[in-house]
Amino acid sequence: MVTLENILDIAKRRGFFWQSCSIHGAVAGFYDYGHLGALLRNKWEDLWGKTFLGLDDNFYEIKTSVIMPEAVFKASGHLANFTDPIAKCKKCGNVMRADHIIEDVLKESFEGITPEGLTELIKKHNIKCSKCKSSLENVESFNMMFPLDVGAGKSTQRCYPSAETAQQAYVNFKQEFEALRRRLPMGLAIIGKAFRNEIAPRNALIRMREFTQAELQIFFDPDTINEHPDFSKVQNYKLSILPAKGKKIVEINCKDALTKLKLPKFYVYHMAFVQKFYTDILGFPKEKFRFRELSEEERAFYNRYHFDIELDLESLGGFKELGGIHYRTDHDLKGHQEVSGEKMEVNIEGKKILPHVLELSFGVDRNMYALFELAYVEEKERTVLKFPRIVSPYDVAVFPLVNKEKMPEKARDVQKLLADAGFVVFYDSSASIGRRYRRMDEIGCPAGITIDGDTIKNNSVTIRDRDTMKQIRIKIKDLPEILKSFLSGEKIEKLGKLV
Ligand code: ATP
Ligand code: GLY
Repeated sequence: MVTLENILDIAKRRGFFWQSCSIHGAVAGFYDYGHLGALLRNKWEDLWGKTFLGLDDNFYEIKTSVIMPEAVFKASGHLANFTDPIAKCKKCGNVMRADHIIEDVLKESFEGITPEGLTELIKKHNIKCSKCKSSLENVESFNMMFPLDVGAGKSTQRCYPSAETAQQAYVNFKQEFEALRRRLPMGLAIIGKAFRNEIAPRNALIRMREFTQAELQIFFDPDTINEHPDFSKVQNYKLSILPAKGKKIVEINCKDALTKLKLPKFYVYHMAFVQKFYTDILGFPKEKFRFRELSEEERAFYNRYHFDIELDLESLGGFKELGGIHYRTDHDLKGHQEVSGEKMEVNIEGKKILPHVLELSFGVDRNMYALFELAYVEEKERTVLKFPRIVSPYDVAVFPLVNKEKMPEKARDVQKLLADAGFVVFYDSSASIGRRYRRMDEIGCPAGITIDGDTIKNNSVTIRDRDTMKQIRIKIKDLPEILKSFLSGEKIEKLGKLV
């Protein structure tokens, strides 16, 4: 069974990720990605962009500032509502997430309960400080945004680095709506940083104070919420859902989700698309994926429909949230309109519309962690990271069998051929070929090409499959084509004769 320690160990040893600034004494909740982590993240982010921007011709990525004035967060509701309940120990001053310490004792979720309700529960169940076991003060709300004073002296302005990328899309809505020639639906995607002063950062990339989100905001006419042009393509597709307050995952096809869960077509279509991203494109086993419906108390303050995207992460003891599908209505555009005085309503062929928003929200770092959990395998003789080929940090490794007999020169030619063809190539000529194969396995490189004596004689090379360790021999000139098929999922034995 894979553990958090297994993941942290290989991540650090091989150059994926680790705590930031550890030479100066790390602050909890901040992580850096090393060279392999950066490659892995780039691959995932590219795939996410290709997949979700591919949903519609009118969906685009934008790149924006992260620090924004206070007015933005007054409009969004974050100033008033983006809070966590905290309980402080009367004796040692230790501060805890009030809902979490109650959950630890009573083993059920208390997300969304008011501070007064949590105070009562703490008293009723006699819950004490997790460190010194003394009594706790009344629960209070703690705003999770980091305030930032921008400028100096009289011109100082109170700003905040955003707690979600979503707000950057909303403040850019009007400009993009005009630039994109006034059409709905319109999608604005942002892959960017989010900042939250979490009380108890933990589990490495799962709960951080600075993290990356990939979010797509889909602006649409609310009168069309019960339509989607491609719904018939997914109507029989089965969604895995844990209903609000339910105990068991149910499989429900998209058509039935409309009536049984009373969800609109526009929402359900996107649920199917998100589930397919995890199970069909990334290859997570179906039983490890579920949507969790949030009850009214649990939903974020801006959501009408809210299902979290969850994966079963063995190393963390069960299903964990990786993202969410949020129907935010006109909450945000209305807020920005009221606070800024700028009209957010648009006019399409004489119809006045204040667009509603469907948000597909993903935590990039939590997705990175989930990839490790999916990939980490300990076999008798080796540890392997079996990342999905499509997001592996490197596409292919190139190895000269020995550092003589013209093999290094030939290997450099092959490396160049593949790099020119757009593959991310890892070159390794040190240590025995067996050791190099193990290294390739541990960094999750899906294919290894060896240049040997036969290469010099007849321009053929072997390709080794990381997962099965099977090898085929093929001509160098066919490499780019064959490698492309392999990376898109083809079995190694289908691509050449096994050797
Ligand atoms: P949680 O309930 O775990 O605190 P959340 O419901 O507050 O998460 P959202 O506000 O819905 O999370 O944020 C959208 C996504 O951003 C989450 O699904 C998650 O993947 C990611 N995310 C949120 N908070 C963090 C964090 N502290 N560290 C890493 N990723 C996070
Ligand atoms: N943008 C959704 C969230 O961060 O909660």
